[in-house]
Amino acid sequence: MLKIHAEHLISPSGQAPKKGNEMKKIFEAFDVDIIFNNGKIVDIKKHKITDDFTIKAKLVTPAFVDAHTHIPFFGSRAKEFYLRARGKSYSEIFESGGGIHSSVRMLRNATTDEIVKQNLKYLSLFKRHGIAAIEGKSGYGLEKISELKQLKAMKILNEIQDVKIIPTFLGLHAIPIDINKKDYIDEVKKWLDDIKEFTDTIDVFCDKGVFLPQDIEEFFELAKNKGFKIRFHADEIENVGAAKLAIKLGAISADHLLKISDEDISQIANSNTVATLMPGTSFYLGEDFAPARKLIDNGAAISIGSDFNPGSCPIFNPAFIFHLALRFLKMEPEEILTAYTLNSSYVLGIENGKIEPGYKCDIAIWNTNELLDIPYMFDQNFLSAIIINGKVTIYENI
Ligand code: NIG
Ligand code: FE
Repeated sequence: MLKIHAEHLISPSGQAPKKGNEMKKIFEAFDVDIIFNNGKIVDIKKHKITDDFTIKAKLVTPAFVDAHTHIPFFGSRAKEFYLRARGKSYSEIFESGGGIHSSVRMLRNATTDEIVKQNLKYLSLFKRHGIAAIEGKSGYGLEKISELKQLKAMKILNEIQDVKIIPTFLGLHAIPIDINKKDYIDEVKKWLDDIKEFTDTIDVFCDKGVFLPQDIEEFFELAKNKGFKIRFHADEIENVGAAKLAIKLGAISADHLLKISDEDISQIANSNTVATLMPGTSFYLGEDFAPARKLIDNGAAISIGSDFNPGSCPIFNPAFIFHLALRFLKMEPEEILTAYTLNSSYVLGIENGKIEPGYKCDIAIWNTNELLDIPYMFDQNFLSAIIINGKVTIYENI
């Protein structure tokens, strides 16, 4: 048994995914004890002094869950950051053989051990800032052996550190330089049974210059028949009908959505597909932000991710993502909390994201009473302890 004495507790409540107005409704309590056993919340009751070991907390929330990252990757694309800062666009760099292609070259040449070690460092930073679980993707291999290498690296990372990685196969991230699109898709179809050993989820970069809906519909019907869940990088650069296809295929999540149309907004709101938004990418690339307000006001469910990757968003810090979501997505703090905990857990298929008796949840303990302080002073780290899978890591006085 473990006890947290919380001056202030805030948690989403109800069934995931929370949609529209429901995202704002949260559970709040003051001066309570939260009792845990093996990561499971046993009770929440009025604070009483006892002899039990007690973690004293100002603010307690569920730990953040990052619904979309490109971990693990290898190497750095700092030179491309410089080129973009001097006027080259993300697409121009990609089309001239850089971008995703340069990450592919670096990853293909790296050993599993090297990939694990580079990403271990990132994961300890995620944890240090309050993140208990993330999505990880392949997609920097673009050949069977290297895609499997990335999936294996995620498996090892799950064995040697605390942040849970929920893997997704993103073989259709780009068209490799030496093969045409149709042949590549046919090739990837043959890998699916081996991929199944590592993950039950498939994603695609469905956008201008990459894979279009007509290229991939049949592939995804096949993947669905094989029991895979579906996610989409959808309509980030241009509206190519990706969100529409994601909804039609019953995708668990359609991500980015910078260019989603009003018609697609009402369709997604009436579906079970969650809109996963990543304001870090818009900020980093200097692009528009997704129409989060319109999505929520129409009744859609939103989850939040960092999109942490070496090209379009090397930002992982949840306090900064929170800041961007509040400021540029115009989301309310309670909506962001729900999107970044309960709804992102739903997208990743894990039980997490709400502090409620009987529920298994990872917990973040903050050295401030106010949720708003986290996005407000985003480059201060208010996290003082984190509980993942029942295991406590203490960073500061508690
Ligand atoms: O989500 N949009 C495609 N994929 C990533 C970028 C990956 C990269 O540039 O390495 C994204 O933005
Ligand atoms: Fe992405």
